[in-house]
Amino acid sequence: MAAFTISSASPCKLSSRENGMCSSSSQALMAKARRSNGVGMKEKMRGGRVTCQATSIPADDRVPNMEKRQLLNLLLLGALSLPTAGMLVPYATFFAPPGTGGGSGGTVAKDAIGNDVIADEWLKTHGPGDRTLTQGLKGDPTYLVVENDRTLATYGINAVCTHLGCVVPWNAAENKFICPCHGSQYNNQGRVVRGPAPLSLALAHADVNVDDGKVLFVPWVETDFRTGDAPWWA
Ligand code: FES
Repeated sequence: MAAFTISSASPCKLSSRENGMCSSSSQALMAKARRSNGVGMKEKMRGGRVTCQATSIPADDRVPNMEKRQLLNLLLLGALSLPTAGMLVPYATFFAPPGTGGGSGGTVAKDAIGNDVIADEWLKTHGPGDRTLTQGLKGDPTYLVVENDRTLATYGINAVCTHLGCVVPWNAAENKFICPCHGSQYNNQGRVVRGPAPLSLALAHADVNVDDGKVLFVPWVETDFRTGDAPWWA
């Protein structure tokens, strides 16, 4: 920017901060400024003095070129995107299903005090025919079954009654699951044998992780081996 000061009471005095230019009269300077297309000029008359300010920045420098504008747009987009993505992650994880908790795609069974169930350890304290509740898929109470040959059954039985959702206890004396709420009964594999429950108890695969021996529950999506029907819970 260049600034000029002109006084009409004395011989023309024009000073320039930039290059010290001087002309013979203020009128000539103003006329020149009006004619000049690339130079902006402010004129102010104050007490017989004319103060002129002129800008001498080329038009190309006053408006950022397209490459600079695109770069600024990208920087702005990046600055907005990162915090937005950071805010979306907690929402996404909130609505995502719970983690499997196991390296092979299953949920590790938990005992009554929340410890992982180790198959060998479990079988030392749970004899043939045992059905004991553990924490299964989605936190549902799920029975681990010990077969008569002292091995773990390859399925777990979801203990949630298919009538109105009570947890169904195992009755060893009757060799059945008998719901205390409305009397529904299920055989020792969880197949419904008396209503009002309309469906058998849900199943889950009970696998043993070969690396650490932990019991893993895996969703059962195959045919229900007790009824030959498609799994109603899948
Ligand atoms: S909730 Fe089990 S019989 Fe009603």
